Amino acid sequence: MNTPTTGPHTDRYVVMGNPVEHSRSPWIHARFAELTGQALTYEKHLTPLDGFASTLLALRQQGVKGCNVTVPFKFEAFAAATHHTQRATLAGACNTLVLRGDEVLGDNTDGVGLVRDITVNAGVPLRGARVLLLGAGGAAAGVLGPLLDEQPRELVVCNRTPAKADALVASHAAHARNNKCELKSHVSQALEGVFDVILNATASSLGHGDIPAPDSVLRPGALVVDMMYGPAAQPFLAWAARHGAKGRDGLGMLVEQAAAAFELWRGVRPPGAQVLAELSAVLARPPQT
Ligand code: ATR
Repeated sequence: MNTPTTGPHTDRYVVMGNPVEHSRSPWIHARFAELTGQALTYEKHLTPLDGFASTLLALRQQGVKGCNVTVPFKFEAFAAATHHTQRATLAGACNTLVLRGDEVLGDNTDGVGLVRDITVNAGVPLRGARVLLLGAGGAAAGVLGPLLDEQPRELVVCNRTPAKADALVASHAAHARNNKCELKSHVSQALEGVFDVILNATASSLGHGDIPAPDSVLRPGALVVDMMYGPAAQPFLAWAARHGAKGRDGLGMLVEQAAAAFELWRGVRPPGAQVLAELSAVLARPPQT
């Protein structure tokens, strides 16, 4: 352990959400602070559903240095920011805010967190890969830009409501061209061939819905990631395992998006893989590959 994480110059950070009780972010950031010797506190804030902007203002007036933002406030966080990073602008949503006087910088670290978990923690390259992104809501929009930055050969967005997939593809078309990636939308019935990496960004598991893709997209050894973690991810990961694919839940993405936020706030890169292994142990389940 490094220096204490509280003291006379302790900075304060908050995760805003509703619900927020389940959030693992305070545990993750406390561990990052210990391992890097940063003096900070990090707490949950149950934000009223109709009170995001007023709560953010109050936190700023209290001297809070930064916020993570979770469901359902990521779009409101984008609207509240006075400046945005390029990836936040592409996503149209923010999960991280930096508070500096009158300025609110809005960022979105979900996509880089997912990419790092796939390419570093799981060791699976995205460059040149054929990637299937299931879903076209906020979670999918948050990760598409950074996925394209990795220059996959082809990325197909598939959504229950095709018009939303079309809109997501249209808003990322220039970014895909710049990265020499063939970006398309398909309905589930039109998916052809197998994919190297399949990402579930739908909320189907939460509603115990059907698997939102046909079995034919899977191949043995493919990487299948559900962006949820815990019981919500299990039906999708069990489907992957039945077809010989490697399943991975969203715990690594959670830790790595936090690591990117921590680096933005503190200028120090925390050890994401170590904290992921520790959190997996705390949650009493083996790290997945
Ligand atoms: P989030 O912020 O979690 O992405 P969202 O913006 O409401 O939430 O998006 C939810 C996504 O899950 C959408 O892509 C949704 O599909 P629709 O656009 O057709 O609504 C998808 N989804 C939710 N339930 C689903 C189910 N049972 N089967 C397939 N897709 C589902």
